[in-house]
Amino acid sequence: MIESRAPGRLIYTPGEIADAVGKLALRIAWDYRRKPLVLLGVLKGALYLTVDLARAIAQIADGPSEIVVDYLCVGSYGMSDRSDGQVRLLMDASVQVTNRDVVLVDDIADKGYTLGFLQTLLKERAPASLRTCVLFDKPSARVVEVPLEYVGLPAPDAFVVGYGLDYQERFRSLPYVAAIDPKTKEESSSPST
Ligand code: IMP
Ligand code: MG
Repeated sequence: MIESRAPGRLIYTPGEIADAVGKLALRIAWDYRRKPLVLLGVLKGALYLTVDLARAIAQIADGPSEIVVDYLCVGSYGMSDRSDGQVRLLMDASVQVTNRDVVLVDDIADKGYTLGFLQTLLKERAPASLRTCVLFDKPSARVVEVPLEYVGLPAPDAFVVGYGLDYQERFRSLPYVAAIDPKTKEESSSPST
């Protein structure tokens, strides 16, 4: 399915994204070498990242002894492009994380509400260890300080879409990342179905 409109200013090409994912995979594979690893992706934004990361880690020699991939889904109240700190769990992971080494994988750290919420939730389940991996980081937007052990690339102080990141459910499947054009954003603001 081809996106109806390619928005905005190009920020990262597919090649740059693949390089960043590869580098994250190398670091994670090394840190969890010969140990079982649980990768927990945050839907929907980290859908592609989690899959690409898991496959890249699995191809690295002497990496984790086993990779278990699971997802959970969170939503925030209010507009889909604005989080106001009210994060809720829409779907929980099905794997048990207690006593296991877990890496939480999300698309972007923005205000920090989502990752703060999930880190607290997961820590209550007493994993052996918990680290967080994001492909993009927008440090200038941070409201809640959250530890981020693995960061792929800086994101500009703009709304970005592509490679999992959406604007009202659109543009997720773009293979590149673009900063959204305010005009496009306005034109596409009809309710998503
Ligand atoms: P936070 O709770 O403010 O850190 O927001 C995190 C979530 O909001 C991310 O997991 C994304 O799903 C979404 N988000 C934040 N910034 C952007 C953006 O620039 N583009 C698309 N989604 C974003
Ligand atoms: Mg997200």
